[in-house]
Amino acid sequence: MQDFDKEYVKPSRADGAFSILQLTDTHLFADLNTGFLGINTAGSLQAVIDAVLRQNRKFDLIIATGDIAQDYSEQSYINFAKMMHDSFSQPVFWLPGNHDDGPKMARVFPTVGVSAAKNVIVDKWQFVLLNTQVYNAPFGWITPEELNYLRQCLDNHPELYTVVCLHHNAYRVNSAWLDQHELRNKEELLELISHYPKVKLVLCGHVHQETDFVRDGIRFISSPATSIQFEPLSFNFGLDSKGPGWRYITFTPDGGISTDVYRLPFESFRPDFAIGGY
Ligand SMILES: [Fe+2]
Repeated sequence: MQDFDKEYVKPSRADGAFSILQLTDTHLFADLNTGFLGINTAGSLQAVIDAVLRQNRKFDLIIATGDIAQDYSEQSYINFAKMMHDSFSQPVFWLPGNHDDGPKMARVFPTVGVSAAKNVIVDKWQFVLLNTQVYNAPFGWITPEELNYLRQCLDNHPELYTVVCLHHNAYRVNSAWLDQHELRNKEELLELISHYPKVKLVLCGHVHQETDFVRDGIRFISSPATSIQFEPLSFNFGLDSKGPGWRYITFTPDGGISTDVYRLPFESFRPDFAIGGY
């Protein structure tokens, strides 16, 4: 079980509202020049960072929703931390994806100034960052320990609105190949959070595409990767002709959520469409 570790972030606006930047599926390598399905992932992440800096929007923290690495290397995590610290002063929080080495991340990130906190509290909101990784498998599974951790966070702070963050999608995206890789025991997560009306949002990565819908009063959001994009509604593996992206989400003290997705021009990072899978 994870340590019951908390971090408190002060909202930057006087009215208690605050924003996060979600970056996901960076798929970095130890070697910054390595390509992934035809694009240089360190280059696309840096281009996303540069675009975020140009936007000059206020945000209070960054959440990286997994697949930070593609090669499971210690150096890929050091690269990620350096790229974040070189450009942003906001705290960065993370959770592992199926392409990550979770224990290695937990060991490396604190040595390079990235918090390991999995319960982040900002004014009237808390974020709970869960591990849904299954060693050596692309699909997700939430263990009883992680569910207990979530339940503990919810029970300890019944007054807080809650965002559940995880890598794997807890819903189908209607792409047969990708839906095999969903959170396979999603019903256990959904059953738990159905008892906690303060859970407002389930935020994920993994699907390399934008989704956003409300079910039973809970909003479910995924975001474009900073690397390659998967084609929505595709039976077989397919790459999408959209650029790397990022998302801002703003939270208000009365439980409100608003969000925007941005993308780089597709021409800037064009994957190799001849590749039939990964
Ligand atoms: Fe990914």
